[in-house]
Amino acid sequence: MSAPSKPEISPRLIFFLALLGPPGALAAGGLESPGLVSGPASCSTSGCHGGASESSRQFAVWSQRDVHTRAYATLTNARSARMAEALQLGRPAENSTCTACHAPLQTVAPALRAADAHVEDGVACASCHGTGDSWLRSHTRPDWTHADRVAAGMSDVRHLYGRANSCVACHQNIDPRLVTVGKHPALIFELDGQSVAEPKHWREPATAHGAQAWFVGQAVALREMSSALAHDRGEPGQALPRWAGLHWVLQHCALDENFSAAAAAPDAAGFAAVLAASDSAARRAADLAWSHDLTKTLLKKLAATHAAFLDSSIGRLEHARRAERLVLALDRLLASLPAAARPAGAQAPLDSLFSLAQSAPDFAPADFARELAAFERAL
Ligand code: HEC
Ligand code: HEC
Ligand code: HEC
Repeated sequence: MSAPSKPEISPRLIFFLALLGPPGALAAGGLESPGLVSGPASCSTSGCHGGASESSRQFAVWSQRDVHTRAYATLTNARSARMAEALQLGRPAENSTCTACHAPLQTVAPALRAADAHVEDGVACASCHGTGDSWLRSHTRPDWTHADRVAAGMSDVRHLYGRANSCVACHQNIDPRLVTVGKHPALIFELDGQSVAEPKHWREPATAHGAQAWFVGQAVALREMSSALAHDRGEPGQALPRWAGLHWVLQHCALDENFSAAAAAPDAAGFAAVLAASDSAARRAADLAWSHDLTKTLLKKLAATHAAFLDSSIGRLEHARRAERLVLALDRLLASLPAAARPAGAQAPLDSLFSLAQSAPDFAPADFARELAAFERAL
């Protein structure tokens, strides 16, 4: 199980500690012996993941179509050079401030890299599936199931909770200075949309629901935000309304009794409580037998919140952050339904909601409330 056993340890930390090798963290990551970190080339022989058939074309899909292959090259472009200059970092492709997410192998001591592991590979197999020779040699055993491989230390990205932990490590927790001073794109983690956007080198089971991935991803995002606030990472002026906004949306799903309906205080006790509640909500939601009816119920509950946008005791920025997460939610929930079950009139009000939520400084809560009421009527 790749997931952190202690939720307060960020998965990213687990991942890098697992690469670097201190024994305490390795136990948490399930990697008993880190060995050499291999590169994608070692997975790409034609009998393994480098074939052309449906069952073996993972390397082809990743190397030809996956954005992650260009993550290293990005660090050598002009935009990255400007960022590095503003941040006074030197060469981004050689600085762990950037390579931690764009080319994780750079952060591994050269002596620990296998001969075929290249920093230029960007975000490759090991970044998501885990490193470590505890499973690499044995994972091809024909008598092994997915559970055996996971027990041996491979990351469980098939389970939505493990998958969310893997992606969020690079898709949300960014040092705010990179965004404010370096003008790095702000990162918003949303597992379902980002999974759809990544060209799939796997087949999702027929029982997969985008809405479930959405919920698990948002709960994990909230856990990581709570952890950042608890550790004084993040710029409170920005981070607090984002945290409160996402917390509000997940509470209104009322999917998990661990989320109390009360607003959490923005202090150490509140962050700790939301951290624990969101981690357990994510785990439980990942194991739920999801259904389209549940997706429809969540859509209705969220659409019914329109009057809350008329509450003038809530600040504009917090209203805007609620709205931002809410439109993402409505979008992913609608997309999760089969076309025939999607309410025909819902798309137009959703488009208006998206444009109203676009810019936090000019957010107009009353207009948003009106469009959300129209969306509710369309359901
Ligand atoms: C080791 C860090 C890392 C991990 C783990 C990771 N990503 Fe990424 N991802 C990146 C970086 C860096 C980029 C930007 C690539 C570029 O354009 O330079 C990116 C870009 C993307 C993009 C395109 C931009 C966007 O946000 O729409 C998608 C989609 C994406 N990742 C999905 C995923 C998913 C899904 C997972 C988990 C299964 C995942 N990523 C795990 C680092 C990572
Ligand atoms: C926490 C992980 C993380 C760190 C650290 C990070 N990035 Fe990124 N970066 C990403 C992700 C994820 C994206 C994709 C965002 C998107 O498209 O929404 C991205 C996108 C970018 C882009 C835009 C790519 C494009 O398509 O134009 C540039 C440029 C970039 N990063 C450069 C840098 C530089 C330079 C540094 C170091 C100063 C850095 N990044 C540090 C995760 C990270
Ligand atoms: C950005 C994260 C990411 C990267 C990079 C990545 N994978 Fe995956 N991979 C996933 C996810 C998510 C799944 C779906 C979960 C599953 O089926 O186990 C998956 C599934 C798989 C599967 C199972 C396929 C199936 O249909 O059951 C194989 C095999 C695989 N990946 C191999 C690779 C190889 C080889 C590479 C490198 C060339 C690679 N992956 C790179 C995230 C990633």
